[in-house]
Amino acid sequence: MYPLKDGSLWPRDQWYIAGWADEFGEAPIERTILGERVLLFRSESGTPMVLAGLCPHRFMPLVKGARTGDSIECAYHGMTFDGEGLCTKGPAASPPGGATRLKRFATVEQGPLVWVWMGDRVADPAKMPDTSRCGIATDGWRADPNGTMHFAARYMLIVDNLFDLSHIAWVHASLLGNPPICAEPAIVSSENCLLRADRNDIGPVDEFSRFLFPESVGPIQQTLGTEFLGPGLITAVGPWVHEADGSPLAGKDWGQIHFVHGITPETATTTHVYSLVTRNFRLDDEVLSAALCGQNKAVLVQDCELAGVIEGGLGEADTASELSFRSDHGGIEARRLIQSLIDAEELSL
Ligand SMILES: [Fe+2]
Repeated sequence: MYPLKDGSLWPRDQWYIAGWADEFGEAPIERTILGERVLLFRSESGTPMVLAGLCPHRFMPLVKGARTGDSIECAYHGMTFDGEGLCTKGPAASPPGGATRLKRFATVEQGPLVWVWMGDRVADPAKMPDTSRCGIATDGWRADPNGTMHFAARYMLIVDNLFDLSHIAWVHASLLGNPPICAEPAIVSSENCLLRADRNDIGPVDEFSRFLFPESVGPIQQTLGTEFLGPGLITAVGPWVHEADGSPLAGKDWGQIHFVHGITPETATTTHVYSLVTRNFRLDDEVLSAALCGQNKAVLVQDCELAGVIEGGLGEADTASELSFRSDHGGIEARRLIQSLIDAEELSL
């Protein structure tokens, strides 16, 4: 499916964010992830649980059922499943077959997040995104969760958007202005499954850098980057500010901000976006956190509206004749990378 090959939706054998850790409580909630309805709750021993959300008997949503201990009893015929998903009670007087079970998905709790593995193969811890690169659950960093946004758009439109800073001058001008750095060509680099697009600029200390780093002298080097840490996690880095050559403090690294996007496809055309703002400076500054989170939320609202409008028009678009420009380099590499992950799963079936 555009902008991937026909029939390609998303890589399944990957870790995606299932929800915030504090959403996993006593009362099960339901969510759709990679097109599958699932049930989220926390077991009595404290483990975040993700189970299939529909009873396999007549597909009653289990969120309507009753929880006792770690068991879920379906509201339709009383079928009951234990915390491992094993059926312990059948409908009416029918005993459950020995293998009757709900699918249980592997989870990993990490700081404010719970990750889930929706793939059919055994969950692979080595595929967990390297969140130390964006300061989640990392010493010397502060990570502020900034809410969930529901995009009425396929996740690939969000991937495109994050790798393409040339839209800032058009979509976010009211919030971010028109920073000249966004027009710089990105330096795109990739190594294994890590893809990065950086824009660099050297100049005097601008207003936003002065706000972040009041002691900066300049000239400073600013980096704005986009880093793909996995299909479920893309971080917009920046600014990352160093004192540049010619500054009395040349080489001084003031720090970096990341606008982290946990991207979890919901359906083929809708997406959950889990937002965090992280930084490695002024860690105790609550006012700064509130300002950055507020601005980030406003930017996300603009991107969410934009993506929904584009999604709405895609049915009539002649996608085979799509135009691309140099500014799309990073986004096109991200498309290639995601397609290669999907193709590799199909090849190894
Ligand atoms: Fe944007």
